[in-house]
Amino acid sequence: MSWVTKTLKSTLGRKLIMALTGLFLILFLTGHLAGNIQLFFNDGGQAFNIYAKFMTSNPIVKLLSYLTYISVMGHVAYSIMLGQLNKAARPIGYAQSGASTNSTWASRNMGILGTVILVFLAGHMYSFWYQMHWGGIPTVMYGTEEYKDLYTVVQLAFQQTWMVALYVIAMGFLGFHLSHGFSSAFQSLGLNHVKYSPAIKAIGNLYCIVVPALFAAMPLYIYFTS
Ligand code: HEM
Repeated sequence: MSWVTKTLKSTLGRKLIMALTGLFLILFLTGHLAGNIQLFFNDGGQAFNIYAKFMTSNPIVKLLSYLTYISVMGHVAYSIMLGQLNKAARPIGYAQSGASTNSTWASRNMGILGTVILVFLAGHMYSFWYQMHWGGIPTVMYGTEEYKDLYTVVQLAFQQTWMVALYVIAMGFLGFHLSHGFSSAFQSLGLNHVKYSPAIKAIGNLYCIVVPALFAAMPLYIYFTS
């Protein structure tokens, strides 16, 4: 067995993959948020539709998209494999007494939180990503160029109460997942240092509130203004 295979099969190697894919997904989320902020512009969706076309046609962005899909699949697959290794190493499990004082609720429920986010993601990709790529969505003209009107698809989706509620609740799960995942990723990469760890923790605490809150604000904004 080569050292690469050995590392990827070890607990440490699997944690490393979880951390690297997790950090890449945090970068994706930040970019996705910045792009979707254009839904707040009062321009009838022009900036958002131009951005959406760029995101599906630019070759560098396409490469980043493939990396995102690989990261999602790798993050999920390795979380399952890591769970199996942990179970095999400790079939009886730890005594539960004092669990809540030694660890946060989120850290003990990362699997459940992640599963809910995965189910959300499947629905989310069908509602928007699938429609953008393969759905028969209307088009608009800006100047002489034709654009798919993804803005209207998003507007129609977020006029449904159940959809808005689902997104807001899912963003709560995302916030809890990030509240442990952010700093945990740095720790798995060995980047914990007396000097930097408090700053990483503080940035993580801010990130896990601000980013899901801004995502949740999008369906709420559309619902209450359209
Ligand atoms: C209310 C908040 C959100 C809105 C309005 C939104 C909107 C969109 C839209 C319109 C697309 C299709 C764009 C395209 O195919 O180029 C998309 C794709 C996607 N979204 Fe979201 N999104 C939101 C939140 C999220 C969250 C929280 C996640 C992750 C947990 C996420 C993950 C993705 C992924 C992975 C894709 C596919 C990206 C790609 O193909 O590169 N989105 N989103």
